[in-house]
Formats: sequence, structure tokens, C-alpha cells
Amino acid sequence: MFANQVRYGLATREPETTLAAVAARLDTTLMAYSPIRHVLGPDIAVHDVLAAVAHEHGVSPAAVALAWILRPAAVRWVVVVKAANRAHQADNAAALRLTLSAVELDRLDRVFPASGEDLKLQTF
Ligand SMILES: NC(=O)c1ccc[n+]([C@@H]2O[C@H](COP(=O)([O-])OP(=O)(O)OC[C@H]3O[C@@H](n4cnc5c(N)ncnc54)[C@H](OP(=O)(O)O)[C@@H]3O)[C@@H](O)[C@H]2O)c1
Repeated sequence: MFANQVRYGLATREPETTLAAVAARLDTTLMAYSPIRHVLGPDIAVHDVLAAVAHEHGVSPAAVALAWILRPAAVRWVVVVKAANRAHQADNAAALRLTLSAVELDRLDRVFPASGEDLKLQTF
């Protein structure tokens, strides 16, 4: 299996600028690391819209953030989420059963707009 692992999520949409189209053309999978940390991190309050969409579905904001990555798209994404807490694991599994409507995707798009920037190589 070949996959490119990059940081991607509602608040970190740089892979959409160029990489996603390249991956779609090459028919390769992209793996989204840190898919929720930058959305739910301690310095970023859960956005009202994210919370509202989660409430409407009876799931957590994290599940919405993961389902958003897994929404139908030209490129296949898988998520690499870290959850040591069992309640978080259950929350996150709910994303696999969650389909966001076009209206909900549009609401999220307005408050978490595409970056327009290209992905910078990250080294740790
Ligand atoms: N390729 C790379 O360069 C690279 C770089 C960074 C990370 N990664 C990979 O990506 C994985 C995930 O990245 P990450 O840990 O930075 O970010 P993440 O998975 O987006 O966020 C992990 C944090 O979110 C919490 N969390 C998980 N589910 C939650 C939920 N449902 N509600 C609230 N909080 C929740 C976790 O807490 P608990 O653990 O307490 O549940 C943890 O503090 C890593 O394990 C690593 O393998 C790869």
C-alpha cells in the first residue's frame, strides 16, 4: 500500500490546494494526521457551527470533524486519529456512520474556509 500522510482537517486544509488533485489523478490514498487536534485543541474553542452540527446528529464535534474528512471527494482520505480515552474512541467511531448533508458541509465550509495556501513540508 502506498499513501501520503499529511496534516489535514477542518482547520488545516492546505492539502486541498494542490496535493488532493494530484493524489486523485494518481489514484493514491491520503492519510490525514492530527485530524482533530487543530480543531479541538486547547487554544481553539469548539466553533459554534461545529457544535451545532454535532448536536443535530447527536454526536461529538470530533465525530463531525472526522466525518468531514471522510466526506465524498475525488480523493480517498483515511484518518489517523489518536485517542487513548475510551469515550473518545467511541465518539470517533461514530464518524464512520455519519453522513453530513450538503447544507452542513456548506455551513462548515463558511467557518473553516479552504486555506488557498500550499502544504509546507513539516519536519518533526
Ligand atoms: N506523519 C507525521 O508527521 C505525523 C505527525 C503528527 C502526528 N502523526 C500521527 O497522527 C496521529 C494523531 O495525531 P495527533 O495526536 O497529533 O492529533 P489528533 O489525533 O487529531 O488529536 C489527538 C488528541 O485529541 C484527543 N481526542 C481524540 N478523540 C477525541 C474526541 N472524540 N473528543 C475530544 N478529544 C479527542 C486525544 O485525547 P485522548 O488521547 O485522551 O483520547 C488527543 O489529545 C498520531 O498518533 C501520529 O501517529 C503523524
